[in-house]
Amino acid sequence: MKSKTLILSTIFALASFSSIVLAYDPRPLQDFCVADLISTVRINGLPCLDPATVRADDFFFSGLAQAGNTSNPAGAAVTPVGVSQIPGLNTLGLAIARLDYEAGGFFPPHYHPRGSEIHTVLEGSMEVGFVTSAPGFKFYSKVLEKGDVFVVPVGLVHYQRNVGAGKTVSIATFNSQNPGNSVIPNALFGSNPDIDSDYLAKSFALDKETVERLQAVF
Ligand SMILES: *[C@@H]1O[C@H](CO)[C@@H](O)[C@H](O)[C@H]1NC(C)=O
Repeated sequence: MKSKTLILSTIFALASFSSIVLAYDPRPLQDFCVADLISTVRINGLPCLDPATVRADDFFFSGLAQAGNTSNPAGAAVTPVGVSQIPGLNTLGLAIARLDYEAGGFFPPHYHPRGSEIHTVLEGSMEVGFVTSAPGFKFYSKVLEKGDVFVVPVGLVHYQRNVGAGKTVSIATFNSQNPGNSVIPNALFGSNPDIDSDYLAKSFALDKETVERLQAVF
């Protein structure tokens, strides 16, 4: 009986320890650490302002009522609200963004290396899908309407597109102050400098001309 209790408490201790170790952005060690956005100190995250100088505006952003500018080939825009927009988000493991899509608008396949993402549709109709990692490459997707919510797990390749007749507006929330965005076509065909086109042609089973055309576009 006693050893059973010991084993159970050991399991609980290990489980709570591993949830701390595996948590995404680090846990705060103080009430807040409002980012000093002009400091040249390089740390993982941003250094804290002197708390005596912190104001309510450091925790505030106004502007998500306005649509982003969707006059671009994808017909979509992101208005990010991360640590650069709200310095008070520093160390809190949280960010939000407004996404606007014209009819036919889309975000190409991408992934966020540092954050899971939860989508909430405010207006319109949006398809969202993600693909699991090797070996399954299982594709999960859903069409969301106003008020619907869908989660994209951290690091998985995913996309969103407007599948309605009018505009779509959604809010994306991340469990990182700086989730990052690796856009697949830009990363592979628009890198600086270019990745060798023979290698890309072999990797994608494409001819070299097609790869060079993609490199010109991206
Ligand atoms: C929207 O973006 C387009 C293309 O970059 C630009 O020409 C246009 O002036 C922008 N519109 C607004 C209202 O900023």
